[in-house]
Amino acid sequence: MILKFLAIFLLLWKTSPAEKARFDGFSVLRVIPKSEKQHLALKQLLRNSQLEIDVWRFPGFVSQSADIQISPKHFFKLNQTLTELGFRSELLIRDVQKLISEQERKNKGVKETAEVFNYGKYHTLDEVNNWIDNVTKFHPNITSVFEVTKSYEGRTIRGIKISTGDGKSKPGFFIEGGIHSREWISPATLLFMAGQMLDRYTADLRIKQMVDSFNWFILPVFNVDGYEYTWSKNRNWRKTRSKHGLCVGVDPNRNWDYDWCKEGASKDPCSDMYCGPNAFSEVEVKGVADFIMKNSKGMKGFIDFHSFAQLWMSPWGYTTKLPPDFKDQDKGSQLAVEALEKVYGTKYKHGSIANTIYVASGSSADWTYGAAKIKYSYGVELRDTGKYGFLLPPEEIIPSGTETLEALIALANYVVNN
Ligand SMILES: *[C@@H]1O[C@H](CO)[C@@H](O)[C@H](O)[C@H]1NC(C)=O
Ligand SMILES: *[C@@H]1O[C@H](CO)[C@@H](O)[C@H](O)[C@H]1NC(C)=O
Ligand SMILES: *[C@@H]1O[C@H](CO)[C@@H](O)[C@H](O)[C@H]1NC(C)=O
Ligand SMILES: [Zn+2]
Repeated sequence: MILKFLAIFLLLWKTSPAEKARFDGFSVLRVIPKSEKQHLALKQLLRNSQLEIDVWRFPGFVSQSADIQISPKHFFKLNQTLTELGFRSELLIRDVQKLISEQERKNKGVKETAEVFNYGKYHTLDEVNNWIDNVTKFHPNITSVFEVTKSYEGRTIRGIKISTGDGKSKPGFFIEGGIHSREWISPATLLFMAGQMLDRYTADLRIKQMVDSFNWFILPVFNVDGYEYTWSKNRNWRKTRSKHGLCVGVDPNRNWDYDWCKEGASKDPCSDMYCGPNAFSEVEVKGVADFIMKNSKGMKGFIDFHSFAQLWMSPWGYTTKLPPDFKDQDKGSQLAVEALEKVYGTKYKHGSIANTIYVASGSSADWTYGAAKIKYSYGVELRDTGKYGFLLPPEEIIPSGTETLEALIALANYVVNN
């Protein structure tokens, strides 16, 4: 009898959905190190696991901001420590849960029917997959579905290929989103851009030219397990969902096999920048890398879309030294951000990854450039600059998509002629 109760209890416990993490009273502080000493002290402080800090933006270098999420329980201690270290902090977000709930509420309010997809809405992984099926069915002559691999938890990583005319002679261009799962604006922006490339193909000469110039590989959600987790369990999840040690997940943008796990990555499995037990330990990263390598012959462009900070960056990430192609690569960034800014005045910075955001080794763009030899490899940080961070309201999706598409058109036009 007791055993039976126990069995039922265990069954219920196993099948009842776990609570979704809440962030009531959690705030995000912005601090700016004013000296190398402060910069080092800040990096040290952020490694202090007792404070349960969630870094929204890592400190890069002196006079560049770092954004730190902190619970109400540890707020006082953090603020005290920062004050002792001589920092003045700015309260960027007062209540993270409030923004999460607001994003959720607004997203539910965005009208969408079974027939008409609304790009101004954040979509679940299932909805993204339905979208992939639908647009490829709608445009059978120029699109196809590609499957990369299965994720750690068994989901299929899928994207669409857009290829017009005789694709054989064209260079490839690979764009991916959602490698960091909480950066929701990234998949949403990719869906919008892909939708525009297809829906406006016949009517808009600029779009047609851009689409015709390349074989496009568009992977909207890279980190499928993490993405699903941000919808069901924890809106703030960044890493994969694999288990290698005490903690869950590897930073999929520190796991690529190019100068893997040097500066700007962590060997601590509990860190949000954990590089993994070895390069390509993550099936998702290995899968995408293999896919790119298989198709890399003649591939000329690669962009990994992230958020947030509004930056258009090229290699290297692992060192502040510049690669031989930097001038050409950065020219592409410059043209992209100029075209982007023209739309709504949104300002992006550009430069090499290590000199623009922070040193990060084992990142996607270093590998696609250094190993797969894709000259025009980029990492982009989309909107915003910290007002909402990862919790950008859905009404910014279409503006973000619209301006980023202009950047992509300008960049594609430059790359094809170089
Ligand atoms: C942090 O501490 C400083 C100095 O003790 C104080 O002036 C400031 O109001 C605190 N910040 C917040 C947001 O409470
Ligand atoms: C299917 O794709 C077409 C063409 O892009 C689009 O107009 C329509 O809204 C899509 N429908 C769904 C349910 O996704
Ligand atoms: C698609 O291809 C088929 C068969 O080649 C052709 O008959 C049809 O006109 C094409 N449709 C479009 C929209 O290009
Ligand atoms: Zn990211």
